[in-house]
Amino acid sequence: MPLDTDDFLDIDDLTPAELDAVLERASALKAGADDAQLPDQTLGMIFEKPSTRTRVSFETGMTDLGGHAMFLGPDDIQLGHGEPLRDTARVLGRYVDAVMARLFDHADVETLAEHADCPVINGLTDEAHPCQTLADLLTIREAFGDAEDVTVAWVGDGNNVGQSFVVGAAMAGIDVTVATPADYAMDEAVFDRAADFGADPTVTTDPEAAVADADVVYTDVWISMGQEDEREEKLAAFEGFQVNEALLAGTDAQVMHCLPAHRGEEITNDVLESDRALAWDQAENRLHAQKALLVELLA
Ligand code: CP
Ligand code: NVA
Repeated sequence: MPLDTDDFLDIDDLTPAELDAVLERASALKAGADDAQLPDQTLGMIFEKPSTRTRVSFETGMTDLGGHAMFLGPDDIQLGHGEPLRDTARVLGRYVDAVMARLFDHADVETLAEHADCPVINGLTDEAHPCQTLADLLTIREAFGDAEDVTVAWVGDGNNVGQSFVVGAAMAGIDVTVATPADYAMDEAVFDRAADFGADPTVTTDPEAAVADADVVYTDVWISMGQEDEREEKLAAFEGFQVNEALLAGTDAQVMHCLPAHRGEEITNDVLESDRALAWDQAENRLHAQKALLVELLA
């Protein structure tokens, strides 16, 4: 079905029904469906920050769909040399069929969407990572069938990945508990947005309480891209928030991580290498979920 939104800047740019349709299509594509194609369409991909999964899954996804993706790194285009973002947006919109952008400031992806005359997809900002949420929800559906009976504990930093996940989980009917240090809580607006879908996530600073009844424990790096100068301060603040066998003892929770992981910081090597880990399915599902999103936005 055609989407109501032109852009995908955060997960709740979709309605719950549209989110369901994207995930259904993602499952079909993963199972081999080839009815949807984007012949001759071009995706421009702007990256201010590094990426493995986002870059490779979008580029491979466009190739799979019969289209083409173009990597535009910070040194490759005039944006990195002083050309204003709105000018870049206006010009790219006249060449390509869609733009995917990984930027620092969330306001910049909004500026891009405002000035580009084509759909804009958020490939991660400091505030949000909705493409990751699509893959996460697909992974939970695959692992548990009915997502509505699933309880997820977010443990660690109240960051971009967590914020989009909390809203997406609310849209999918998943119960969420969020455990972060008090100084690294999620933006209050995230919980207001979750409440718009009838959700009331539990918020705590106690990781042990959060994981006690969880089917899934989800964590991400403590020091996100761009926060390198906060490293020592954050390492101290997150003591006790590591996802390790001691925290998981007594639960048979599965573990999610968007990757890349910093083993020995937010998660141990043992946990990430254990049968609990869903991280590799999450990574694969970026490809299927984003192909579905592209088809729904562009076909
Ligand atoms: N999870 C994720 O977005 O990974 P990359 O930074 O490798 O794109
Ligand atoms: N929170 C991490 C996610 C990386 C995919 C970051 O922003 O660096």
